[in-house]
Amino acid sequence: MTDSLTVTRVGGMTGEILFIIGSTRPVRVGDQLADEIIRLVEGEGGPGIVVADLKEINLPLLDEPKMPALGQYTHDHTIKWSEMVVGASAVVVLTPEYNWGYPASVKNAIDYLYKEWADKPCLVISYGGGGGKHSYDQLRHVLGRVKTRLVDAPVNLVLKGEYGDDDRLRDPASVIAAHKADIVTAWEQLRSLIDAADD
Ligand SMILES: Cc1cc2nc3c(=O)[nH]c(=O)nc-3n(C[C@H](O)[C@H](O)[C@H](O)COP(=O)(O)O)c2cc1C
Repeated sequence: MTDSLTVTRVGGMTGEILFIIGSTRPVRVGDQLADEIIRLVEGEGGPGIVVADLKEINLPLLDEPKMPALGQYTHDHTIKWSEMVVGASAVVVLTPEYNWGYPASVKNAIDYLYKEWADKPCLVISYGGGGGKHSYDQLRHVLGRVKTRLVDAPVNLVLKGEYGDDDRLRDPASVIAAHKADIVTAWEQLRSLIDAADD
């Protein structure tokens, strides 16, 4: 634990794009999809990409005594998470769909912070049997509440019969290839939002 910190630097629109992997299961596919999406969009140019894997970051359930909107954080893990978001020019949230919603890990990571999200260009990418559209809609609703600037071009990755015996995707590249047009369109919009924030 460190001394309480008040976050004053909110914005920081000169950094890299923070790519959040929302799933934290020991055997998951989110990391495979993230790798392939990043491989695709890196060819499109623009800011670099930093991965924030919530499985590795391993935030406890929100354990700050003060309201996050005050930015008076007491834990190192909160301060580090805040700095990652503040320093990013934009955020991508890659979310699976669990029981028609997005995972608790993602909600927890959002709820830790408040002002850090404001005006942040933000792209949601969902996945699931039907593309994860329920999780996509719910997550956008919440990210609207914390005032991110949302890309309005849906990316819903449909996973049907894609899994091997090890519960991993047999061919993640083909999943991304099947959604390439949607991803590129959304990525262009994200870059426009970043450029507009820089002006
Ligand atoms: C707890 C749980 C609930 C799920 N519920 C849904 C669902 O409501 N809709 C859907 O399309 N897929 C659902 N799935 C399937 C997941 O979308 C699929 O397993 C996906 O690979 C999960 O992402 P992950 O492997 O990165 O954790 C569910 C999976 C889990 C583990």
